[in-house]
Parts: sequence; C-alpha cells; structure tokens
Amino acid sequence: MKVVSVVGARPQFVKAGIVSRKLRDKGVKEILVHTGQHYDFNMSNVFFRELRIPNPDYYLGIGSGMHGEQTGKMLIEMEKVLVEEKPDIALVYGDTNSTLAGALAASKLHIPVAHVEAGLRSYNRKMPEEINRVLTDHISEILFAPTDVAVENLKKEGITKGVYKVGDVMFDVALEVAGKVNEKKVLNKYGLKPEKFILVTIHRAENTVEETFLQIWKALNKLAKLGIKLFFPVHPRTKKLIEKLELVPESKNLTLTEPVSYFEMVALEKNAKVIITDSGGVQKEGFFFGTPCVIPREETEWIELVDFGFNHLAGVNTEKIFELCEGLFFGGIEIQKNLPKFYGDGSASDKIVSIISGDDFE
Ligand code: UD1
Ligand code: UDP
Repeated sequence: MKVVSVVGARPQFVKAGIVSRKLRDKGVKEILVHTGQHYDFNMSNVFFRELRIPNPDYYLGIGSGMHGEQTGKMLIEMEKVLVEEKPDIALVYGDTNSTLAGALAASKLHIPVAHVEAGLRSYNRKMPEEINRVLTDHISEILFAPTDVAVENLKKEGITKGVYKVGDVMFDVALEVAGKVNEKKVLNKYGLKPEKFILVTIHRAENTVEETFLQIWKALNKLAKLGIKLFFPVHPRTKKLIEKLELVPESKNLTLTEPVSYFEMVALEKNAKVIITDSGGVQKEGFFFGTPCVIPREETEWIELVDFGFNHLAGVNTEKIFELCEGLFFGGIEIQKNLPKFYGDGSASDKIVSIISGDDFE
C-alpha cells in the first residue's frame, strides 16, 4: 500500500502529526507532500519539529497568492508528483486550497482520494473553505467523517458510499500532546495565570477585512479596558491588516504576539478562561479542554458545540462579543461541564490507518 499525503497549512500539519506517524508505524509506504501554502517558520517548521512529522518527500514551494493562482500552481505540481509516485491512495485533510488541489489532481488521474474531516459544512458558499469541502467530498472515495452531523451532511448530498465515522484526529493529537506540555512554563513565558485570561485567534478571510475586523478589535479593547487580560497570537494575514490600519492596543491588557507553537497553544487553550476564535480547529480544541469559545462568525461547521450550548456564535458584533465574553469570564453565563464525546475516544487516527491499510476496507 502506497499513500501520497498532502499537507500545506497549519491545521493540516497538526492532523498529519498523528496520522503520518501511525501510517508509517503500520508499514504503509507514505510519501508526504508539503505544498508550501504556509511557509513562515512559526506557521510550518515548528509543527514538523514538535510533532515529529517526517520531512516532506516533496516541497512544492507554492506560497501565497489569489485562490485561482495558488490552487492552479498546486494542481500542476501535484499532478507531476502523482504521476511519478503512482500511489494507491491520495490522502487529503480538511478544507484548504491544498486539500482541493491534492484531491482534484488525484481524482483526474483515477487515484482514489481519502478525505480526513469529510462532511463538514457551514452552508456559507462565500467561504473559500466551503467550496473546497464540498468539491473534495464529491470527488473522494473514502470519506472520514468526524461526527454524526458530518455523516448526515454527506447523506443530504447523496454521499453514503465510502463514508466512515471515525471521530476527530485533532482530538487524538490534543490528548497526546496535553499529557506532555509543561503548562506552567508556557504561562510563565507569557506572564499569564490559569483562568485569568482570554485567548484570541482571528484569521478567516471574511474577518480580515477592515470593517469586520474593526468590530472584533473594538470588542477586544473594550474587554482589555475592563481589566481582562487578552493574549492574541496573530496569524500573518491578520498581522498585515493590523499594520495596514495602524492599530495599536488601547490597554496593556491586550497582548499581540507572533503565532505560537502547537504545544504552547495547547497550554494556552487549557488555561484560558474563554477563547475568542474564528478558527475551526481552535473551536474544537477549546471544547477538548473545557474552555468555551465565543465565535465572531454568523455560522460554524462545528455546530454541535453551539447547539449544545458550550460555544457561542456572536456574529461580528462588538457588543455581542463583549457581552458573551464578559458573562463567561465573570460567571454570568454558565460554562457547561459533563460534556458529551462528540469527537470520539481518541482513536480516530488508528481507525483511519486501519481502513487505509486494508484491515477494514472493502
Ligand atoms: C488558510 C486556509 C484556511 C485555514 C488557514 C489555517 C484556504 C483557502 N484557507 O488560510 O482554511 O483555516 O489556512 O491557518 O486554503 N502568510 C504569510 N506566511 C505564511 C502563510 C501565509 O505571511 O506562512 C500570509 C500571506 O500574506 C498570505 C496570507 O497570509 O497571503 C493568507 O495565507 P493563505 O494560506 O492564503 O490563507 P490563510 O488565511 O492562511
Ligand atoms: N495553532 C497554533 N498556534 C497558533 C494558532 C493556532 O499552533 O498561534 C493551532 C491550533 O491549536 C490548531 C490549528 O493551529 O491546532 C488551527 O489552525 P488555524 O486556526 O490556523 O486553522 P483552522 O483550524 O481554522 O483551519
């Protein structure tokens, strides 16, 4: 069995961080392709180092660009790799342009595509990720759905064959890493105390335009002025906008930093009282560690967490973001305990590997 795995962006490194290792442990011949969509040290290398991901066999070096240009360049280069390697399966993760390029190149060459994190939907076709998810699912032969909701979403689109509900590989990674991180050291490094700060990440394309971002920025400053510490590792896309708008925190309680490593992120998510995020991965990780998220978006693909009442959709509305955070931080809004196991039991990666390696796949 030979698998070509395609990664390119931060959340994909995290997911491959467990799946690649287990594939290789099982004796599967894995060829790892890094498209180069993310390339800064703290957006790429740091994950390979911390999670001991094998060095990519191919680095395509595509870099940033408009969607068509970026995806098109990836498609051209991916096709060459697949023609050369002739794998039995192409394995893609999530919903980025690297996911779509890998899946499209493989399917045109009649190489079966396996999609990790299949069936996610926000039902907002303006999100580039939604287009990538829908298209990738429809050209995949093996669909690893993390949740019941994802399986149902696929069913609504007529996809029932090749669907496996396996749980979420991000849960597997988080469990593994949470046991290894020196939380105290991370908190000391950043001058933070357990349960006494809000962690912030913002990077979605729709939230990094001036008017929308300013709504979020105002809420962060309002919370900081109230005396709450906020710690905000800034994605490069967001950093560009902050610099362009010449924004400066209005209180010393709002700290902006470079993106942090995954190990540090786990420590921060575990110890924050509340998280403000538009990240898909971070919404779930907050839940894994019992930390609720306020989501400055109108909808989310991880809807089960909102329906359950653990995470909260705020829209991009300064007052709503502020009120939800204030309530969760000071106790006016209850933080739910006894959480259901929406994302499996930490064995999603084992299930994926056993299906791919043929133990459980007809
Ligand atoms: C991409 C994914 C998004 C995912 C996110 C994870 C798509 C369409 N979007 O969004 O689904 O949630 O990754 O973080 O695939 N940049 C740097 N250095 C880097 C990477 C990016 O400076 O290492 C800057 C560039 O200016 C670039 C911008 O960030 O234009 C956006 O990067 P890009 O990969 O296009 O999109 P993300 O917002 O990272
Ligand atoms: N992450 C990280 N450092 C950061 C911000 C995020 O290690 O400064 C991790 C986070 O813990 C999660 C993944 O990156 O595992 C999520 O990536 P991102 O939010 O960029 O993308 P999304 O999940 O929204 O696609």
